[in-house]
Amino acid sequence: MKQAVRVAITGAAGNIGYAAAFRIAAGNMLGTDQPIILKLIEIAPALDALKGVEMELRDCAFPLLEDIVCTADTSEGFGDVDYVLSIGSKPRTKGMERADLLSENGKIFGPQGKAINDNASKNVKVLVVGNPANTNALIACNNAPDLDPSQFTSMMRLDHNRAISQLASKTGAAVTGIKQLVVWGNHSLTQYPDISHCTVDGKDAKSLVDDAWYKDEFMPKVQKRGAEIINARGASSAASAASAAIDHMRDWVKGSNDWVSLGMISKGDYGISEGLMYSFPVICKNGNFEVVQGLNQDDFSIEMMKATEKELLEEREAVKDLL
Ligand code: NAD
Ligand code: LMR
Repeated sequence: MKQAVRVAITGAAGNIGYAAAFRIAAGNMLGTDQPIILKLIEIAPALDALKGVEMELRDCAFPLLEDIVCTADTSEGFGDVDYVLSIGSKPRTKGMERADLLSENGKIFGPQGKAINDNASKNVKVLVVGNPANTNALIACNNAPDLDPSQFTSMMRLDHNRAISQLASKTGAAVTGIKQLVVWGNHSLTQYPDISHCTVDGKDAKSLVDDAWYKDEFMPKVQKRGAEIINARGASSAASAASAAIDHMRDWVKGSNDWVSLGMISKGDYGISEGLMYSFPVICKNGNFEVVQGLNQDDFSIEMMKATEKELLEEREAVKDLL
């Protein structure tokens, strides 16, 4: 039997945390041969609710779940952790954009980055889900000077999965038939869901759909899906967000067969400003990820990639005191 690894989930009594914890404990993220110690982190007022989550997790008698720690103390919560799902923060409500959360949520991620830096395993892998996810991840990363920037990522996998699902449904293909799709940039309205290099059952995706559908229906559908869900549910996506977080971490740890989209610190690839937390197409291998190189981007794609970069530059400027 393998040695247990420690997985921290912040906001574990919240909607996404609740949806994620059980699937992680069941082995959906790290495999059914990997024992786990869950470290569930909440703010003090939510510790009673968190106790209930712990009771339910214990009641599942998951074979892989060796222990559960519930805490509001981030030094204890992030102590020796191998993986962090940083979810705890406010969700937006109807009529808001995700960036409207920056002033309230942004301040969570500086101290959190420092606590991860000071207490987590030196090889920790961090996924920031709390919105606005890219800039919150940037804040956390900038407050963790002893860790490599590539240890911090932000979640674009929900957008990526949404785009795959929409394209599969339009073309009649199975989701597994969609390859080489990418969502560039920010987890916001400016994100660029790009099918220029995508194949559907081996055929060029662009030859199967017309340009008007691609630009006027598909792109806005994916860009605005979060708001569509808030309007329908009266609450933001939770189970699909948890599922995307699990996909993101699983591929990062175990490797991806296909391109996946994730927010990472830009090293200047495709002319994107260095140091921004920007989503690129990557391939995950051996516990790392590498940007897919050499893609020929047309003028439309470059314009879209620059528009989402501009928004991230503005967000970075707005939080410069937290970096
Ligand atoms: P929720 O309100 O149901 O739960 C949030 C939980 O976080 C609460 O239990 C709260 O007590 C806790 N929390 C708040 N501040 C905390 C802190 N400093 N430390 C630890 N815990 C803290 O919200 P939710 O639906 O779970 O959403 C959480 C976040 O994820 C929101 O910001 C939401 O917008 C975001 N989100 C991101 C994506 C994405 O694709 N990146 C998708 C869906 C939701
Ligand atoms: C989503 O995309 O569903 C989340 O970011 C929640 C939101 O505010 O849209």
